[in-house]
Amino acid sequence: MREFGNLMGSLTAILFILAFLNRPVKAINKRYGKAIAKTSSKGAFQSLMRFLVKNHKLFGALAGASALIHGVMKASAYGFIASGFLTLSLIMLQGVLGGYGFRKMKGKAGVWLKVHRLIPYLVFLSIFNHVVVKVFW
Ligand code: HEM
Ligand code: HEM
Repeated sequence: MREFGNLMGSLTAILFILAFLNRPVKAINKRYGKAIAKTSSKGAFQSLMRFLVKNHKLFGALAGASALIHGVMKASAYGFIASGFLTLSLIMLQGVLGGYGFRKMKGKAGVWLKVHRLIPYLVFLSIFNHVVVKVFW
């Protein structure tokens, strides 16, 4: 059970990165799309971009779900862990914000999107703290 809980933590990090790649992949396309179109990697890049953009909400929602499973399992074994609780809160906030932007704003830019683009950096810092440096645990 302990391994399964750990797996859920690592899975969250992977799914979160997949959801985050939505932005860099679009930025690369915008900047280098024309140059890539001239190379033999054109098809591969476009498939990758389509895959990441199309499944963005799914990856985000799954990251939220696995984070919750990991959090509940670890909290019931170890009690309150501030670094984990902070990471979980940020990921949940990100998911709720994404849901709001999608349903109420129909994905159009707004303050929600600025915040939705910023939170991932805080999450990465928070995961780094939770898993590697443990400035607070
Ligand atoms: C309230 C929420 C959380 C609590 C209480 C918590 C607690 C813990 C604990 C106690 C461990 C050590 C595991 C062990 O050795 O048995 C751990 C590991 C870990 N946690 Fe969390 N965590 C939470 C949220 C998160 C979130 C949101 C992420 C998102 C990425 C995450 C990612 C990880 C990872 C990657 C590990 C290392 C797993 C491994 O050693 O293989 N945790 N967590
Ligand atoms: C929890 C992990 C998530 C991360 C790391 C994340 C990250 C991002 C990023 C970086 C962008 C900006 C893309 C750009 O600049 O074009 C974005 C856009 C967006 N996100 Fe998320 N997001 C997450 C979850 C969600 C969820 C759960 C939903 C909805 C249910 C959602 C809905 C959206 C929408 C509608 C956009 C704007 C349009 C689009 O790019 O598809 N996000 N997200």
